[in-house]
Amino acid sequence: MNLYTMRDVTDDDHHWLVELHNDPLVLKNLTNPTPITLNDHMKWWGTIDGKTEIRKIFCVNGEKVGFCKFYKIDHNNLNCVLGADIHITHRGKGYSKPMWRLMLNFCYDTLKLKRTGLTTVEYNHIGQRVYKYLGFKVEGKLLKSLLREGKWYDQICMYHLSDWEITP
Ligand SMILES: CC(C)(COP(=O)(O)OP(=O)(O)OC[C@H]1O[C@@H](n2cnc3c(N)ncnc32)[C@H](O)[C@@H]1OP(=O)(O)O)[C@@H](O)C(=O)NCCC(=O)NCCS
Repeated sequence: MNLYTMRDVTDDDHHWLVELHNDPLVLKNLTNPTPITLNDHMKWWGTIDGKTEIRKIFCVNGEKVGFCKFYKIDHNNLNCVLGADIHITHRGKGYSKPMWRLMLNFCYDTLKLKRTGLTTVEYNHIGQRVYKYLGFKVEGKLLKSLLREGKWYDQICMYHLSDWEITP
């Protein structure tokens, strides 16, 4: 039985986070697909305030596996935007759903939010499969909003509410 946990980022994680960010499949799914340096990353990390922006590490049996991103946490309107990536060495092992369950529970039980949202690129079929399984619903599309290698792609907007059941 695997033990799934989510913890704060520590100093030792930053090299791993840069490696995760620069993975071609992760870059392909980010709005800015430019690889980053550790220096870029540390500058950006200095902007994460722990209130409106939170980042956590998803671990399986204590080993780091994924990066959990809580963007634009709006404490007035009780919502935020979510995103998450799994390191290439741990993909395809069924870890995405337990990771997302921890993230949703953190949003609803700890942060006391009522709504979470996300955007995913139309070609991210694995992501969409996971989000739909968890109960996220499509609320619209940002048509032709992502430019990749000279082609335009739609981003799909999905949302989830705190009183919806999270699929076990
Ligand atoms: C999206 C992501 C988090 C999913 O995690 P994962 O470890 O790859 O996926 P899991 O092993 O948890 O499997 C999730 C589902 O996708 C399916 N799946 C996994 N890999 C697959 C593959 N290569 N091809 C087709 N289906 C696949 C699994 O069968 C499972 O579906 P099921 O439960 O119906 O059987 C991960 O692929 C990732 O980080 N990708 C790169 C960056 C990214 O896309 N981030 C999200 C941006 S919105």
